[in-house]
Amino acid sequence: MNKPESDPVNLAAEVTVTTIKVSRDPFINNSYMVRDPRTGKALLIDPAWDMAAYERALEAASAELAGILITHAHPDHTDLAAPLAERYRCPVWISHQEAESSGFRVPTMRTFGECAWEAGGIPIRPIITPGHTPGSTCYWIGQALFTGDTLFIEGCGLCPDRAAAESMYSSLERLKRLLPGGVRIYPGHSYVQPPGLTFEKVFDFNLYLSFSSAEVFANFRLRPGQSKAAWMAFS
Ligand SMILES: [Fe+2]
Repeated sequence: MNKPESDPVNLAAEVTVTTIKVSRDPFINNSYMVRDPRTGKALLIDPAWDMAAYERALEAASAELAGILITHAHPDHTDLAAPLAERYRCPVWISHQEAESSGFRVPTMRTFGECAWEAGGIPIRPIITPGHTPGSTCYWIGQALFTGDTLFIEGCGLCPDRAAAESMYSSLERLKRLLPGGVRIYPGHSYVQPPGLTFEKVFDFNLYLSFSSAEVFANFRLRPGQSKAAWMAFS
């Protein structure tokens, strides 16, 4: 494991992470609630489909929703962003690059580049990781990294073409340079292993972290014969 590129601003933050699993055939998604136990303020990441699940999670934790973070603009990660933002009167954050490339818009949307910021007093460091989509973003909060469809425990998100696959390779290589091994990985979808494994442990399961060139990585990522079911599951 390489040394981190720089000292992250947010590693000191103490937050709790609750996984909120939601589904709508054929998708099964992991969304997350991040809560600061000192203040009760919370963030939701990639909420979709099941409004009652988020209401229950917030209520059970006596949490006050301070904002919504979107890893990328695909509908299974954004479906409830607007209704939740309206109901709880909070902002929705998405990277500028992702908003521009997808056309995603909600009334309380705010965009960012790669500067760290705080929401509800919770420090957030965004890492823009193009590949699955042009502005896909991983959010580094405390000792957790929320990776959307960039990095799964056993793989990575699908890429629409060779340029995107090469971008995904660079994004994963960047995460390898940046992240300490103890950071816990919370992906947008789970397959066998549960979310929350340490980055160090993810290397035991994830072939996509082991390629030595963008070309070989892209050949594998774009290999023929991947089924439509796999495409749906990894989208
Ligand atoms: Fe996706």
